[in-house]
Amino acid sequence: MNEVGIDGVEIRTGKLQLDLAETFAPAQGEDPGKYTKGLGLRASSLPDVYEDIVTMGANAAHRLMERKGVDLEDIGRIDVATESAFDKSKPVSTYVAGCLEQVFAGDLHHANKGERKFACVSGTQALDDAFNWIRAGRSRGRKALVIATDTALYERDDPGEATQGAGAVAMLIDEDPDVASFSTLQGYGSADETDFLKPNQQFPSVDGKRSMQVYLARMREALEDLETAGADTHPDNFALIPFHTPFPGMVKKAAVLGYRHCIRGTDIEAEIADEIGRQPRPEAFDDGEAYLDALKEYTDKLAETTQYAEWYERTVAPTLGISEHVGNWYTGSVHIARAAGLKAAAEDARDLTGQQMLVASYGSGAQAEIHAETIQPGWADEISQLSIDEQIQNRYDLSFEEYEQIHDVHNHDAETDLEPLTTPDGEFVFDGWGRMGERKYTYVE
Ligand code: CAA
Repeated sequence: MNEVGIDGVEIRTGKLQLDLAETFAPAQGEDPGKYTKGLGLRASSLPDVYEDIVTMGANAAHRLMERKGVDLEDIGRIDVATESAFDKSKPVSTYVAGCLEQVFAGDLHHANKGERKFACVSGTQALDDAFNWIRAGRSRGRKALVIATDTALYERDDPGEATQGAGAVAMLIDEDPDVASFSTLQGYGSADETDFLKPNQQFPSVDGKRSMQVYLARMREALEDLETAGADTHPDNFALIPFHTPFPGMVKKAAVLGYRHCIRGTDIEAEIADEIGRQPRPEAFDDGEAYLDALKEYTDKLAETTQYAEWYERTVAPTLGISEHVGNWYTGSVHIARAAGLKAAAEDARDLTGQQMLVASYGSGAQAEIHAETIQPGWADEISQLSIDEQIQNRYDLSFEEYEQIHDVHNHDAETDLEPLTTPDGEFVFDGWGRMGERKYTYVE
């Protein structure tokens, strides 16, 4: 059977930005360093008045399909992953299909459409569904369109407000992919957790500090499960390691723990033993707390080693280059991390064909999933087509007052009548409500 994976990718950011250091920090009475250094974020992307999860997803899909020369009849499946859905019955993928049918000839009547929910990990689950559909021989030679799209807003003054973001990632899944093929080995770490949830409400209930602990715990379980499944997780096996990135500071915390786990018993642990000793082993301690203290001390020293710094700079830092400018896109976050890593590698003329990425997804509630992907010969050409740098550059920079109004525009319970801050140009826009409460969309030339 041919390789199956990501044949093309397109990213669409919300067209507004909230500058965290210049605009948000002063209004919150906080030191800008909390956001730029502590969380690792410079700005959040937010949607203009006429943008939402459908327009961002459809605009990403439209550009991707045009660029790859894909017609509607070539698509056999559309799955949208989101945690910002506005309808409990009609899936966002039907709205996206309606948009695409406005601009391409033909229709998508024979494409299977659905919506995936498991917080931020559902984008990766939708990729799995597409992989399984193709590998099961059910695709009839057609491609799957997977869209991860979210408007990640928090209640005003929630600690999560600084990590907000909005955007979509569209991916074409196919045989003989240009970007990356998926391995069949996967590791899962999953448990019934109440770290972040939206029980019939728009904005999440979040236990922020606990959510960070749960992220790390489930990631570790997933890594162990992947190893049990037979994967060799030596840190040098991977050219890039994209993580789910709620904010880059979270990834920094996860990366050093992952590195510590993966070097245990390897040549790397031996090589740095003269400098920082070997990792404490639990069996050498009678007291669990003393073991944890020793482990923390070792981890702090490990983070200061040249070996760790070089590994982090090569495999993880490049994956954060988009997130730091756009914030958390929930379902799309790990997919912008993958794209950012590949984009940075292409800009540095790294030859990654045939090399592996370790992709670490996470969704609150909670589940982590980790798998390897093999980078394909067409990756650099495909990634160099992304327009995300220009999009980020061209965003409208909100004042704090405008930000407050925009937050209200996208708050389902607030009444506002704000004029758009940007002008639509060659894109799908939200165009009001239909008689059954449905949302309506048009393409603006
Ligand atoms: N200069 C440099 N650093 C500073 C600083 C300054 N002036 N002021 C503060 N900092 C540092 C802090 O030390 C802290 O870093 P460490 O964690 O390394 O100590 C960091 O900046 C953040 O400061 P606080 O911990 O005080 O921030 P907070 O409590 O106000 O909010 C948060 C942090 C809890 C993560 C909050 O942003 C939040 O609730 N976010 C939403 C939940 C989330 O993203 N969780 C992540 C895991 S769950 C997940 O991944 C799913 C998902 O997508 C939501």
